[in-house]
Parts: sequence; C-alpha cells; structure tokens
Amino acid sequence: MSPHPLLSAESVDVLESYLGEAGTVFRAFRDQDSGCVSFGVAVGAERWFVKGATAPSATASLRRAVDVHDAVRHRAIVPLRHHFRVRGGLALVYPWVEGEALYHPTASRRGGRSALDSPMARFRALPVSEILRALDEILDAHLAIEQAGFVAVDLYDGCFLYDFEARRMLLCDLDEYRSGPFTLEADRLPGSRRFMAPEEFVRGSTIDIRTTVYVLGRVLRLLLDAGDEEQEWRGSPSQLTVIEQAAAADPADRFTSVKVLTQAWRGARTSTLPR
Ligand SMILES: Nc1ncnc2c1ncn2[C@@H]1O[C@H](COP(=O)(O)OP(=O)(O)OP(=O)(O)O)[C@@H](O)[C@H]1O
Ligand SMILES: [Mg+2]
Repeated sequence: MSPHPLLSAESVDVLESYLGEAGTVFRAFRDQDSGCVSFGVAVGAERWFVKGATAPSATASLRRAVDVHDAVRHRAIVPLRHHFRVRGGLALVYPWVEGEALYHPTASRRGGRSALDSPMARFRALPVSEILRALDEILDAHLAIEQAGFVAVDLYDGCFLYDFEARRMLLCDLDEYRSGPFTLEADRLPGSRRFMAPEEFVRGSTIDIRTTVYVLGRVLRLLLDAGDEEQEWRGSPSQLTVIEQAAAADPADRFTSVKVLTQAWRGARTSTLPR
C-alpha cells in the first residue's frame, strides 16, 4: 500500500499545492483572524480538515494545538490525526466533521449571531434538553482538559461544531490552550470579549483554571439563552446561581476547578424549579 498522502506526510513545500495533488480541495478558509489557512480535502472516500500556518505566530498556535492533543483525548474533541512541516510553518490534519461552527467570524466579517438562520440562532431554538446535553459535553471535555493540567484560552462559540442531524457537539480550535497556569505578558489574550474573564485584559495577571471556570460559565450563560442579549434565560434559577459564581469578577469568588463547577451545574440541573 502506498503511504497515505496526508497521514504520512513529513515535510511539504506549499500546502495548498500539495493538498491539490493529494486529493480534491473542496473548501478553503482563507480569511481567519488566526492567520491560519485551512482546507477541506477529499482523498478517495475520506474527508479531512487540514489547517496550515506559515507566519510565526500562527505556527506557534498550531504547535500549541499539537501539545493539547498530545495530552488530551476526548470524544467531544475533534482528534488531531497527524501534523507535518510546511515550508516556514506547520500543518495539522484532522478528520473532517459534519458539525457547523455556531459562530464563524472571519477577518472581514463578524456578528450575525442573532440572524434567524444563523447556526447560533438555530442552536438556541433547540429543546432545552438537547442544549443541556451539548453543554454537558463541553464541560466533560474540559474535565479532561483540566485533568491534563491545561487551561483554556480563546474558547468561544467559534470552537463549537454542532451537528444538527446527529445532535452532537464537537470542539475544535483549541490552539491557544496552555499547558498550565501562566502570567499574561501582553495587554490582553486573544478571544471573544463576551466569553473572556476580566484578568484576560490585565497585563501581569495570572491565567489559571479559574479563568477557564469563568469562560465556561459564560458558555453556559450564552448557549442556554433563547436570544443574543442575555435576556431570555432558558435554564432554572439555580443554574443561573451556578453561573454567577462561575463568572464572578474576582477569581477568588469562583469555583476552584472545572470539576467543582461541573458538580454544581449537574446538581442544579435536577432542580424542580420551573424552566
Ligand atoms: N475538523 C473539522 N471539520 C470540518 N470543519 C472544520 C473542522 N475544524 C474546523 N472547521 C471549520 O473551519 C473553520 C475554521 O477553523 P478554525 O476555527 O480552527 O480556524 P482558525 O484559523 O483558528 O479561525 P479563527 O481565527 O476564527 O479562530 C471553523 O469555523 C469550522 O467551520
Ligand atoms: Mg482560532
């Protein structure tokens, strides 16, 4: 059998030309904030998502993604199958998955989460029980991430690929996650403001698992609402109390871990209060 053109590649010159020879490029994502360029590629009956970088900072992000996937595997995280060098950078190979990104900003276009036909609005219109299952998967994946010692950076609704047919939530783009707590040495971290903790905007602050707890609290808040303005909460009052503690402004007031947050969330869910 000849070597697989994607899974056994070690070093290529120009990614897009290589992929065009290896198979058929059926999608391209060229206009992303990250500076990465990604492709959907069909090779025979298989479909792959190949994410490439040549600029130094984008390449550094992809190296981080390799570390994350080395340390964490979870059914809700799209698995990294291979990585290889490209001239001046790196490329990552993932299986192509059917989910739709709940939010897909590009460098030239953003917003639109409330448009009725947007993936986010369609997600928010699903039955509460289905949303809770999806949220549970996100929490569960972050239990595994916490176990591995990692902290979330740049987690937002662009990382959530939801398969509306299979009713399945998958996480992608964990490229900014770090292998442990760290001190912020810039004015801010990358990310979507509405998900980010206050300390992510303060040079010199500590970014640790409590930052992850905050961001997950915001994920719960924003995904279990019927609208985009945080005015149409669909959960119970006790769930809202859990979220308030998760997303407390002072890290000292938050749950101490994803595990404790998840326990509180799962405890609150059995509440008999009306939804
Ligand atoms: N495994 C996959 N299968 C199919 N589509 C995917 C897969 N992973 C990501 N995508 C799609 O590709 C888009 C871009 O992926 P990703 O978010 O990883 O790129 P990015 O360069 O980091 O973008 P951004 O700058 O917005 O963070 C996603 O919004 C999603 O629609
Ligand atoms: Mg990204």
